[in-house]
Amino acid sequence: MPSLATEPSLYRAVLAWWTEHSARRGFLSAARAFAGVLWEFARDSRPARRKQRFGDVEYDWDHRVDTTSGTVGWRDRLLGMFLSPYQPTEPALFHEMLRNLNIDFCEFTFIDLGSGKGRTLLMAADYPFRRIVGVELLPELHRIAQKNISKYRSESQKCFVVESQCGDAREFVFPPEPLVLYLFNPLPESGLVQVIGNLERSLRENPRPVYVLYHNPLLEHVLAGSTLGRAGGTHQYTKYVNRSG
Ligand SMILES: C[S@@+](CC[C@H](N)C(=O)[O-])C[C@H]1O[C@@H](n2cnc3c(N)ncnc32)[C@H](O)[C@@H]1O
Repeated sequence: MPSLATEPSLYRAVLAWWTEHSARRGFLSAARAFAGVLWEFARDSRPARRKQRFGDVEYDWDHRVDTTSGTVGWRDRLLGMFLSPYQPTEPALFHEMLRNLNIDFCEFTFIDLGSGKGRTLLMAADYPFRRIVGVELLPELHRIAQKNISKYRSESQKCFVVESQCGDAREFVFPPEPLVLYLFNPLPESGLVQVIGNLERSLRENPRPVYVLYHNPLLEHVLAGSTLGRAGGTHQYTKYVNRSG
């Protein structure tokens, strides 16, 4: 699969998408899926759908930040159709996932691969993590995340070391400390295989506790086939863990 540079172009995103889909499903099926993506983008550009995308805006009103998918520009939305569309995590579900971890947060670093406008980074800051890191491929979403981090004020905030990095999740080097890794479908299958392979390598080099929260686990078989063990979840997310270290 061709690798995407830090500033992803539409051409490279489409080429990567096409290479993956045609290799898995064959030319005709990939061509049909490609037409489907363009059709979905056209439908998604209608005013009624734009209004629907603002359905996630309540968090922004409460915290005076910009994490809604409603204001994402057409180019990033189109890129998202071929990468993974930006959609922020719903707060109630996020807090349920974190509460169910049952860990001492102070020992862990929270990492969101595919962090978009950074909503999870802000929500994770309500827990006393050692630090919080987001990695986002699209520069515009990353810039908005940086603004959100600098604007965010909350009486419930417990972690103040929060950063958004602009880059490709597939090239992220995991820091050698205990981790909570959050994934909300940022990658196609080949990319997720690469990320989990990087994590397994990092765990062999530095055994330590790592939890993976996988929200909307469409590619769960990738984690199920890894050295991590399933430790719970619901139909909305799964939790995987490596307890070594
Ligand atoms: C479904 S959104 C999740 C946003 C955020 N994690 C949240 O839960 O609020 C997926 C994000 O992954 C980003 N993404 C797609 N491919 C990526 C890659 N290779 N590296 C980093 N981010 C990527 C997309 O731009 C999008 O912002």
